[in-house]
Amino acid sequence: MSQPIVFSDKPLSKEIQTYLANHVKLTMWEEAHKLKREQLFEKLQGVDGFMTSGELINEELLQKTHSLRAVSTISVGYDHFDLDAMRKHQIIGTHTPYVLDDTVADLVLSLMLATARRIPELDALTKSGCWKKGDSRQLFGVDVHHKKLGIIGMGRIGEKIAKRAKFGFDMDVSYFNRNRKEDVEQQLGLHYQELEVLLSESDFIVLMVPLTNETKQFIGAHEFTLMKPTSIFINASRGQTVDEEAMTEALLTGEILAAGLDVYEQEPIHPTNPLLNLKNVVTLPHIGSATSETRDAMAMLAAKNIVAALTGAGACYKVQN
Ligand code: DGY
Repeated sequence: MSQPIVFSDKPLSKEIQTYLANHVKLTMWEEAHKLKREQLFEKLQGVDGFMTSGELINEELLQKTHSLRAVSTISVGYDHFDLDAMRKHQIIGTHTPYVLDDTVADLVLSLMLATARRIPELDALTKSGCWKKGDSRQLFGVDVHHKKLGIIGMGRIGEKIAKRAKFGFDMDVSYFNRNRKEDVEQQLGLHYQELEVLLSESDFIVLMVPLTNETKQFIGAHEFTLMKPTSIFINASRGQTVDEEAMTEALLTGEILAAGLDVYEQEPIHPTNPLLNLKNVVTLPHIGSATSETRDAMAMLAAKNIVAALTGAGACYKVQN
């Protein structure tokens, strides 16, 4: 039987290529610039499996790629999958849970610390040579340890954040989630709070929900008015889970103290976005899982997923049944 054909829209490491070569025929896009959509449609002709990390898989693409049977995303989030269209065309979708949980949780704690202690701002000040003796009060931040943390979305990454905050920083951790998780509450000493209570009581609010129709603009103007003027808001989920205009307004008017952001409504963020001019915002270019070790582990898991999806050998992390 001939081997299935897999196309990857970005280069893969030698190790992953060697693994895939044992199971499938691999072709890759190796240019530094992103493949254009029309070029992608051409590349996918005759292909059985597609490895990507953000390409929109929708009706348009599936109508143009009749041979496709599976799409493996190198990410845990799969909001770029139109699940209805994939179901209709009987395309298996897979993703990469578990291997990135600790890395994303580390980044969330980094954002909390960087925002509370104003690390990027003070780094710039020190390097500019403008640090003067006697101006220390202007450099003060706020404490993270022993504060109240509210986590919205208690999935696997939420749990890792809670563990770090609770046992590393002695924080008082609450959470809001679609389903209450009493086992996690007991194990980590967390409290469940209704959303409005969590928003109005927390010093740090971390948003960690997947992007779905229900979570689009989950945090908007009303939610920002509930937060304390001293609160710090962190988003490492997806940009569209927040009404960005309302968040900008809340930051400008002092409705909240600061924000730490890894994600934006539009990515890459437009250079004229007013968020980029705010001192009380720490911005990152969507790097939640971006360490060498974790990205390699995600790519290997995605490779194993596509092989399993196409050959039926082994299990894969499907996004739907
Ligand atoms: C994911 O895997 O969905 C992350 O957002 C990538 O950093």
